[in-house]
Amino acid sequence: MKRIKLIGYLFSPESNDVMSKVYALAYSNIYLNNLDKMIPSNFYSIYDRLGMIPDSVNHYDRFINKLEQVHNLGCNILEVGGGNLPRIAERIAKRQIDIGCGSITVMDPSLSVKKSKYKNLKLCKEKFTLETDIKDYDLLIGLFPCTVMELMLHKALIENKDLFFRMCDCVHYSDDLSEELYNYYLEHPDYYQKMLIESYVDYSNVFNRNMEVIDDDTPILSIKNKVRSKK
Ligand SMILES: C[S@@+](CC[C@H](N)C(=O)[O-])C[C@H]1O[C@@H](n2cnc3c(N)ncnc32)[C@H](O)[C@@H]1O
Repeated sequence: MKRIKLIGYLFSPESNDVMSKVYALAYSNIYLNNLDKMIPSNFYSIYDRLGMIPDSVNHYDRFINKLEQVHNLGCNILEVGGGNLPRIAERIAKRQIDIGCGSITVMDPSLSVKKSKYKNLKLCKEKFTLETDIKDYDLLIGLFPCTVMELMLHKALIENKDLFFRMCDCVHYSDDLSEELYNYYLEHPDYYQKMLIESYVDYSNVFNRNMEVIDDDTPILSIKNKVRSKK
């Protein structure tokens, strides 16, 4: 049944990310039988879109529940690195309609859909950079924003915005790391995460903002503007 749905989706005009559709179908037996393991995000979003991820283990739902415990969703949100299908942004747009206020823009060069069914959801197939204009947003969010994580943090601190992202477990090469240290982190990704978190907390202190680190499978980092916050 699941394979039939995936074959149908392969021919659906909704998304132009054909490679992800083909691989999501090809590896469906492996991934859908191992939902507790890390599944590549572009396949996960397709399985989620087709209702193949049970609510009890759905990491999009878990991320939004945690987000809503700390931040008010009824504001103008920018989701960075939303992936090929904007599954988080769609859930938030729907929630904002229920609340009666708020908007969300999802920015990712890999976005594979052109239309959104929600008026308050804007799709932006672009790269987030230091030059991205974020003055109209109150809160920046990201689930596993990977290489753009640090940039989000800097922009949020410099422009005094709220921030909420869940870290990925990749180790990113950087000129600041010696080859030896980089290789060490590849073998000990938890130390890499710890080092990043400490440096992020240091940056936040420099900008006189408090960063909260929330425990999850990978850490969630949150910054809240004391004046704007309602919770
Ligand atoms: C690991 S994926 C996570 C996707 C999605 N959030 C999820 O969890 O399903 C990281 C995403 O970040 C996007 N990305 C990388 N650099 C970016 C940038 N500068 N601006 C916006 N998106 C970026 C990639 O295209 C990719 O879709």
